[in-house]
Amino acid sequence: MDKLMITGGGPLRGEVSVSGAKNAALPALCAALLNDQVTELSNMPQVQDVYTMCRLLAGLGMRITRRPGSVCLDGSGLYHGVAPADLAQSMRASILVLGPLLARLGHARLSLPGGCAIGARPVDMHLAALEQMGAEIIVQEGYIEARASRLKGADIHFDKVTVTGTENIMMAATLAQGVTTLRNAAREPEVVDLAELLIGMGAQISGHGTDTIVICGVKKLHRVTHAIIPDRIEAGTWICAAAISRGHVTVNNLRPDHLGAFLDVMKAAGLPMKVGRDSVEVLPHKGLVAVDITTFPYPAFPTDLQAQVMATFTQARGGSLVRETIFENRFMHVAHLQSMGADIEIQGNRALVSGPVRLVGARVKATDLRASASLVLAALVAEGQTIIGDIYHLDRGYAQLEQKLHGLGVHVRRLTSLRVNSVKVPVSFKAAELRYCSTAS
Ligand code: UD1
Repeated sequence: MDKLMITGGGPLRGEVSVSGAKNAALPALCAALLNDQVTELSNMPQVQDVYTMCRLLAGLGMRITRRPGSVCLDGSGLYHGVAPADLAQSMRASILVLGPLLARLGHARLSLPGGCAIGARPVDMHLAALEQMGAEIIVQEGYIEARASRLKGADIHFDKVTVTGTENIMMAATLAQGVTTLRNAAREPEVVDLAELLIGMGAQISGHGTDTIVICGVKKLHRVTHAIIPDRIEAGTWICAAAISRGHVTVNNLRPDHLGAFLDVMKAAGLPMKVGRDSVEVLPHKGLVAVDITTFPYPAFPTDLQAQVMATFTQARGGSLVRETIFENRFMHVAHLQSMGADIEIQGNRALVSGPVRLVGARVKATDLRASASLVLAALVAEGQTIIGDIYHLDRGYAQLEQKLHGLGVHVRRLTSLRVNSVKVPVSFKAAELRYCSTAS
């Protein structure tokens, strides 16, 4: 498996452009299942999860043309609702095909997404909401089998805020008979982006961006083109990269209004920034101070930036208390940061980060997408070389990571290995650029 070798050094300098949001791109791809016409998506991130979802949708009969930065999906050939098991199992977001398939075809079968590294992550609220809309659902031997002649509108209250749950049911309700009201709905920008895509297709949706979304079902949708919003988590990661390295970096193509709670924390930590219309310029600083953070659903501080901010606060003066309230096992980066010299104590869902400390390069492992990003950040300021293993997690969600790091002056190499007669042979510290030649398919 590929590894990333980063040599810690001085401050990052330059400009970096944020890609489209993975977490908006995945539901947008699934929304195309609802449409028997063409859905054209631009500003698509070139990341592994998008490629996996495209393969999964192609397996259902969708005709897909992929070009660098855009995907065109023709839903006229969709003919069955049985998701290829290997692809569905490899990605949790595959649950997002359930609502659209059921609404369009009246039948869906897919493997139950298992727990994942950051927690159990059940899908009970997705299933209960679809049952409320009249679906018959059987879960057995690891598969979800769902049927409905035509889904019916319902008044649905989510016990907990769920992002993909809100998205799944919003998509299903688009073609349902009657009105569906989603209460305690997620307000994340990715949910709003999906609602806007659906409205572009002819769906009748209001209240997106608030905790009550109302969807009035329609019979048919139509052709649409839609640009995916910038990735707020990638944007936050680059701001952290500038902050931890005391660099001078302009992060372009972002939406500052999507980053409110995060920018407030960085300001409170003393990070000098110039916030523009679609950019943030991080200015060099002489030191950050510790700030406490608690993760909550949007618009509060996002769990997907918790690990990156924790890495950054290893270099801040004082103690930062980090409280994780969304996922039960989202401190896996801590052991690896500790092995690089970080002073972090965990008690339940709280972590106390004390700084500033001297970090040293080490061999560490990526454990999930955002945990991996925190190791990259720590490596930027660690003395010597850090080798991060299992970087397929990073490939799932960060587009052109190495090129972007190179562009900011970071010494980074991808270490690839080949298997020859089952023996692992290190090949080269291969320049990353070669790995990202995207093809139309
Ligand atoms: C999405 C994001 C993920 C982010 C998370 C929280 C995508 C593809 N992924 O994940 O990056 O970290 O939101 O912002 O958009 N839960 C249940 N039952 C359910 C559904 C959820 O108990 O049926 C729980 C989860 O275990 C978790 C909480 O609700 O504790 C929130 O999870 P949810 O918002 O659903 O996360 P995802 O949509 O999977």
